[in-house]
Amino acid sequence: MATVIDGKAVAQTIRSEIAEEVRLLSQKYGKVPGLAVVIVGNRKDSQSYVGMKRKACAELGIKSFDVDLPEQVSQADLIKQVHELNANPDVHGILVQLPLPKHINEEKVLTEISLEKDVDGFHPLNIGKLAMKGRDPLFLPCTPKACIELLQRSGVTIKGKKAVVVGRSNIVGLPASLLLLKADATVTIVHSHTSQPESIIREADIVIAAAGQPMMIKGSWIKPGAAVIDVGTNAVDDPTRKSGYRLVGDVHFEEASKTAGWITPVPGGVGPMTVTMLLKNTLEGAKRYIE
Ligand code: GUN
Repeated sequence: MATVIDGKAVAQTIRSEIAEEVRLLSQKYGKVPGLAVVIVGNRKDSQSYVGMKRKACAELGIKSFDVDLPEQVSQADLIKQVHELNANPDVHGILVQLPLPKHINEEKVLTEISLEKDVDGFHPLNIGKLAMKGRDPLFLPCTPKACIELLQRSGVTIKGKKAVVVGRSNIVGLPASLLLLKADATVTIVHSHTSQPESIIREADIVIAAAGQPMMIKGSWIKPGAAVIDVGTNAVDDPTRKSGYRLVGDVHFEEASKTAGWITPVPGGVGPMTVTMLLKNTLEGAKRYIE
């Protein structure tokens, strides 16, 4: 049976470390890290993520700057807000919650965020540096960073191992594959046009699943002893629950946990770690600026 990686517990440990560093920073310089969280419109999922991020800031002594803009806001006005936050010395990180409404060009907005405040790590220059050997981005994207941190803190060796990333999104799959490459893994990306993904996944010592397909990865696809990090957070109908749904990952947990060496559960795996990595990035940005 696999070791189940407790993302909640690891996140709590890291959050305590961050809170202590925030306290020291405040004691020494009289300043605390500041994170601007910008949300456009009222998508339920985005509201819920943004709420978690703001709450986590408050718990750790990080000041959050809340910018809530209406769905109809123009691209020019959103960019004006970003420029104001770029110029605000108390703001060390800027996060624009995605997705943005259709009339706004996401890439244009993300490119306007100051590189030094790009705590999401989505600025094309930061992603570009992530893709290049010997270059280091100022910030690593939070979810891929969470995956690597979970592997490392669980004692999983990455160097020289075969890693397969399932999914190639800009937010998770692509940067996760680049991070694994930086950590000296041999990396394959499986996506919706890959034929027979199971035969590729079966070779993997490390699997990062970020396809957004509920339980698509079966237990029989997992190499015995492999480390499986499940980024999927899919709501599926469950009439036995009061809510009418439950969350499942991209991996069939019951089956895969019989074969894998390590596995993250959903919920309680990568999820709690993602916001924690955002707080860590904000602290790093603040330290670079203040110290
Ligand atoms: N939407 C879904 N995931 C993310 C994330 O990590 N950052 C931002 N800004 N938006 C998201």
